[in-house]
Parts: sequence; C-alpha cells; structure tokens
Amino acid sequence: MSAPSIPIRPTIALIGLMGAGKTTVGRRLAARLGVPFVDADTEIEAAAGCLIGEIFELHGEAAFRDGERRVIARLLNEPPHVLATGGGAFLDPRTRANILEKTVSVWLRADLDVLVARCRRRSRRPLLDRGNPREILADLMAKRYPVYAEAAIIVDTVDGPHDAVVDKIIDALAEAPG
Ligand code: S3P
Repeated sequence: MSAPSIPIRPTIALIGLMGAGKTTVGRRLAARLGVPFVDADTEIEAAAGCLIGEIFELHGEAAFRDGERRVIARLLNEPPHVLATGGGAFLDPRTRANILEKTVSVWLRADLDVLVARCRRRSRRPLLDRGNPREILADLMAKRYPVYAEAAIIVDTVDGPHDAVVDKIIDALAEAPG
C-alpha cells in the first residue's frame, strides 16, 4: 500500500507595511491551509521578554533589528507555517535573502488611507510615535515599496473583509510556479 500523499508546502511569509493586515490575514490563511500561524513580532517579544516599544526605548532600533533578524532566521528553519513578519524585516538584506530562498513571499500591498486607518496597535509600532503617522507611513511607502516588490506574490488589500484577501492569496498560491 502506498503512503498517503501529504501536501508539503514551504512557509508562506507575509510582508508589507504596518497596518497591511499581515497578522489578521495570516491567522485566517493559516487556518484555511491547516498550518500553524506564527507572528514574528510576538516571537521577538517572547525572546526579549518585553514589548517591542520597550526594546526600542531601552536598547534602540538597531538592537531590535538584530533580534528580528535572528528570530526570523530561526523561524525559517521550522516546519512550514504562515509567518507574519514585521514591516521592516524584509528591508534587511540577509533576512530578505533568507525569506526569498526559503518561503513563498507574499506582499500585502495597501494604500496610505488603509494603512493609516488600521495602525492602532501603537505599543508595537514605536516608529509611528516619532511624528505624524500619515507622513511617516507615506515616507516608509516610498522607501519600502520598491523593496517589497521583490516578493514572489503581490496581493492588493483594500478596506474590506480580510477573507477576500485570503481568497486572493490562495488563488495566487495555486497559480504560483513550483
Ligand atoms: C515595524 C513594524 C512593526 C514592528 C516594529 C517595526 C517596521 O510590525 O516590527 O514596530 O519597521 O515597520 P508590524 O508591521 O507588524 O506592525
């Protein structure tokens, strides 16, 4: 008797700016695919034993980025799952190379109004405390969107039901090569 075929898929890494919906969409996508959901920010907080806002305040952004790189490198060696990465993670060249090599990367692309409306979880988003959140997000869009565009799959997220975004990702995964 032949062994049942088990669908093996690589980890799916969600990338995109703060407020793009990586965590909410990621949770639902993982449930639909029947794989675990992992939030990189939560893992960083667990490893550090404090909130992201506290890491920035006590140790600075560079220390946060070091921790983020190490935690994501560890997660990418774990069995397949849906991984929500923090908005800055993909900007790190080593993390980006690692994500592109080991996962199917999905950029949740959103426009400025959607991002501003959704950015409320401030304890994890100290970057937005540095000035006007709309201006900061617009600046980050200009800097980061060309880099996020390296993702294997790009899905536009609009202000609507998250399940519609999940459907779009599942369709795109079905069409993705490999
Ligand atoms: C950051 C995004 C945050 C968090 C940290 C830095 C960024 O994650 O990692 O505040 O540089 O864009 P989310 O994108 O999940 O909000």
